[in-house]
Amino acid sequence: MFKKEVYVERRNRLKKEIKSGIALFLGNVDAAFNYPANQYHFRQDSHFLYFFGLQNPGFAGVIDFDNDKDYVFGNDFDIDDIIWMGVQPKVSDLAAKAGVENTAPYKELAQIIAKAKYEGKKVHYLPPYRGETIIELSNLLGIANADVKPGVSVELISAVVKLKEIKDDYEIAEIEKAVDIAYEMHTTSMKMAMPGTVEQEIAGTIEGISLAKGGPVSFPIILSQDGQTLHNHNHDNVLELGRMMVTDGGAETHENYASDITRTVPVGGKFNERQAEIYQIVLDANMAAIEAIKPGVKYRDIHFLAARVIIEGLKKAGIMKGDTDEALKAEAHTLFMPHGLGHQMGMDVHDMEGLGEDYVGYDENTKRATTFGTAYLRLGKELKTGMVLTVEPGIYFIPDLIDQFKAEGKFTDFVNYDKVETYKDFGGIRIEDDILVTETGYRVLGKPIPKTIAEVEAVMNS
Ligand code: GLY
Ligand code: MN
Ligand code: MN
Repeated sequence: MFKKEVYVERRNRLKKEIKSGIALFLGNVDAAFNYPANQYHFRQDSHFLYFFGLQNPGFAGVIDFDNDKDYVFGNDFDIDDIIWMGVQPKVSDLAAKAGVENTAPYKELAQIIAKAKYEGKKVHYLPPYRGETIIELSNLLGIANADVKPGVSVELISAVVKLKEIKDDYEIAEIEKAVDIAYEMHTTSMKMAMPGTVEQEIAGTIEGISLAKGGPVSFPIILSQDGQTLHNHNHDNVLELGRMMVTDGGAETHENYASDITRTVPVGGKFNERQAEIYQIVLDANMAAIEAIKPGVKYRDIHFLAARVIIEGLKKAGIMKGDTDEALKAEAHTLFMPHGLGHQMGMDVHDMEGLGEDYVGYDENTKRATTFGTAYLRLGKELKTGMVLTVEPGIYFIPDLIDQFKAEGKFTDFVNYDKVETYKDFGGIRIEDDILVTETGYRVLGKPIPKTIAEVEAVMNS
């Protein structure tokens, strides 16, 4: 936990944004894995954590904007809990660490909600993402399950996004810790990417590094020589010489801040000519995009800057053709990069995505595109000092997509399909870094993780 002033300050900032009613933050409860007593590793809700900091399952927080009061609801351990889980501080002692004086057993939460409703006050809550939370909100608010999501408070969502998207120094320090763990994960992955190794051996080893040095991974590891599948969680291939292996993985710190890094390496440790050519294009796109980051620039423009670098590079490689501006306008690059350049990152690896991507990545000045590929851009709006985001361009040769676009006669002015056919066995490449937007530009967070061809080969052969 951070010091208590951090949580007091965060709640005070929220009180400046919202004038009336109460905000209800339900923490998470334990979730069963395969039977009730065998549970998933507990992960607290990120918003409850942000304002109340407590890692205990079955807690809730309330902020009363009209009376400037904060509450924590939760149950003290009874003797059975103590026998199985050990002695725990009392709820009042825990709440004190977050600067909250008012505490009560969990069952009293229903009363404060009922009272607020009786007095005609608005009960603000954020979009739930677990079934248990929907049911609990439905019970507490006396509404049907189906009415819970439509009833969320857009006022609270907007306020939370405004606060959380600007990272404080102590949050940036946590994210850098998470990137430093990712450094160990990725350099280990590079060294292990040798022919004959099963992907699972590497995925398991690097997940262990996260657990050993911080917390669990920040999302299920993506690791495959079939990198053309963007989120490939299958790890059963035996690595073969001539393939590229994508590793997209990050760690969570004890304070639940994430990293999200991708590196792509040639199995065996030496890029062949074809691999080096495509790799360099992705690297150029990654670095050009990072260079362009500064406050006031729309991230969508940086996305298209990266797309331009990819089009130019693929033209040089004979894979694309035609006028670059026209190709960009037609979004012909989406055959090779059918995803967005990046997203905000914080306590959630896709920060606050559960609140609704359009609230987090877009605003009244920047509306989300609906076109293929570009619609997946999670962050399009203007950047502000203090934001943390990912830059993750890629080039993928997805056989089914190539077949479909070719059959539809799509982008025939811009794509040399005959040449593309010869890349169907290539796989994919993605290079992803975590970036802080500073007053004057950007800072790549954490210990630099090898990414030039020479750096990657050096690590793999060390
Ligand atoms: N780790 C998934 C992503 O890069 O967004
Ligand atoms: Mn990633
Ligand atoms: Mn990412």
